[in-house]
Amino acid sequence: MAGRLQDKVALVTGAGRGIGAAIAWCFAREGAAVVIAEKDPETGAAMAERLQEQGARALFVEMDVTARRDAETAVAQALGAFGRLDTLVNNAGINVFHEPLETSEAEWRRCFAVDLDGVWHMCRAALPGMLEQGSGSIVNIASSHSSTIIPGTFPYPVAKHGLLGLTRSLGIEYAARGVRVNAIAPGYIDTSIARDYWATFPDPAAERARAEALHPPKRIGRPEEVAMTAVFLASDEAPFINAACIAIDGGRSVVYHD
Ligand SMILES: NC(=O)c1ccc[n+]([C@@H]2O[C@H](COP(=O)([O-])OP(=O)(O)OC[C@H]3O[C@@H](n4cnc5c(N)ncnc54)[C@H](O)[C@@H]3O)[C@@H](O)[C@H]2O)c1
Repeated sequence: MAGRLQDKVALVTGAGRGIGAAIAWCFAREGAAVVIAEKDPETGAAMAERLQEQGARALFVEMDVTARRDAETAVAQALGAFGRLDTLVNNAGINVFHEPLETSEAEWRRCFAVDLDGVWHMCRAALPGMLEQGSGSIVNIASSHSSTIIPGTFPYPVAKHGLLGLTRSLGIEYAARGVRVNAIAPGYIDTSIARDYWATFPDPAAERARAEALHPPKRIGRPEEVAMTAVFLASDEAPFINAACIAIDGGRSVVYHD
């Protein structure tokens, strides 16, 4: 039986570990050729190797999404290796958490360079080919921080709100030309980024327990649970889903607190 992404080509940024790695893995399992666009040469190369060992078509491109030229090179390498690009998953992201007035210029820029500029660099690079072929799906990994504010996490939610705006803008601009642009907004997902955040508290285990309790299923999410939705959005099963944002947070975002 053919996979749900059979013969498609996908590029996933930040796919060396965490959510991006799970997305790359699930995409390959569904038959896609996968380009691992990753800053860390060790995890990126290892991920591509793991996929190849499973018989998948995979390519590692060492790159930094903050550099527009790297974004263009990564897309060019994808096209060179596999002939087309059907799906771009903008997953690479970093936490930059401060009190607003204590946020330095450098920290503000570091956050926006990865979490928003990086996504735009990748979209700019990938869109021309998608528009030319008349089809494409872009999946942006947003966050609960794209629609809610947790005090002390500035300016991350500013960038993630912007990412939602970018998703909607591009989704509307190019819908009639066959390109869909959607976002996924995960709640807490069990990856290094979340564990590093808990490690900043005096009692990391208590902080993790607090995060688990915030989600109605009383647990946090798994990277594969985000990846399954990315597969759906990238596949031909979601042809009329555009400029949307799907929350993967066990319902946390709709709980009323007084
Ligand atoms: N884990 C969570 O709780 C959670 C919740 C909501 C949203 N997210 C979002 O999900 C995405 C993935 O997060 P994760 O939890 O897997 O994080 P992670 O830190 O485990 O993985 C991020 C990956 O991106 C790569 N990367 C970072 N900067 C890069 C750059 N400039 N260029 C290329 N690659 C770069 C890293 O090397 C790493 O492999 C991020 O956009 C994050 O904001 C995560």
